[in-house]
Amino acid sequence: MLKSFRLYLERQAASIWHYLLEQTMFLVIGWIPTIVGIGIRGIFYRLILKMDGVAAIENNVRLRFASNIHLGQAAYLDQGVYLHACPNGIEIGDRSIVMHGAVLHVYNFRGLPNAGIKIGQDSLVGEYSIIRGQGGVTIGNRVYTSPFTQIIAVNHIFDDPNRSFVEQGITAQGIVIEDDVWLGASAVITDGVRVGKGAVVAAGAVVTKDVPPHTVVGGVPAKILREIDGKSTPRSDRVIYYS
Ligand SMILES: CC(C)(COP(=O)(O)OP(=O)(O)OC[C@H]1O[C@@H](n2cnc3c(N)ncnc32)[C@H](O)[C@@H]1OP(=O)(O)O)[C@@H](O)C(=O)NCCC(=O)NCCS
Repeated sequence: MLKSFRLYLERQAASIWHYLLEQTMFLVIGWIPTIVGIGIRGIFYRLILKMDGVAAIENNVRLRFASNIHLGQAAYLDQGVYLHACPNGIEIGDRSIVMHGAVLHVYNFRGLPNAGIKIGQDSLVGEYSIIRGQGGVTIGNRVYTSPFTQIIAVNHIFDDPNRSFVEQGITAQGIVIEDDVWLGASAVITDGVRVGKGAVVAAGAVVTKDVPPHTVVGGVPAKILREIDGKSTPRSDRVIYYS
């Protein structure tokens, strides 16, 4: 019983004191809605996490190992976001946005040397996207993930048919998404992959190999659909909106 209790606590915060402080903060100010709550958390959450300037954190954001979270200036965490930053932590760059229901979990309970999640500036993690950072996930600037995108930097070993995969360990090589990449809805990026600058991953793709810069890939497993070389004739039937 005591062992289970201890294991539970070890997976919630960096120490018992961090746990008490973080949970007290969530209890007292984590629930406060509206811009008032965002303002209060913008001041007081810097006692439990690292914050450059002021980050906007909605009510009912779930944070674990908050002391390993670093938010950039004007970073935004929507309601229902879950960040679990057990070593080596989660970094979200200036003006980057994490939308409702997204889960970023470093998931390092085995002393993995490169575990962690780092997101650059002006990026967006779409609704219900999942990022697992066991092997390390590095996301550049102006990267957008669409709803239900999954970036999963881990694989189970299952070579031995006589043992459960659960006993056979994991590999965790890491994933890199370079600047200006757009990942379509429900795309899955598997471990060990690098998605090159300016690439587009089509909706529903499962990416198992590196994606060259400025290409569109799609399908299962993902293959190159076309290159983005500026040579294709712009389609006249499109109405384009700008911010
Ligand atoms: C990939 C995408 C951007 C279209 O790119 P595009 O270069 O304009 O592609 P086209 O529509 O001209 O299609 C090119 C080829 O790719 C194929 N293709 C397009 N989307 C595909 C997909 N999701 N999976 C597999 N193949 C796809 C097309 O069938 C076509 O094949 P063909 O040449 O054999 O006919 C679009 O289909 C897509 O997946 N968008 C993601 C939408 C989304 O997630 N939005 C959320 C925004 S937050």
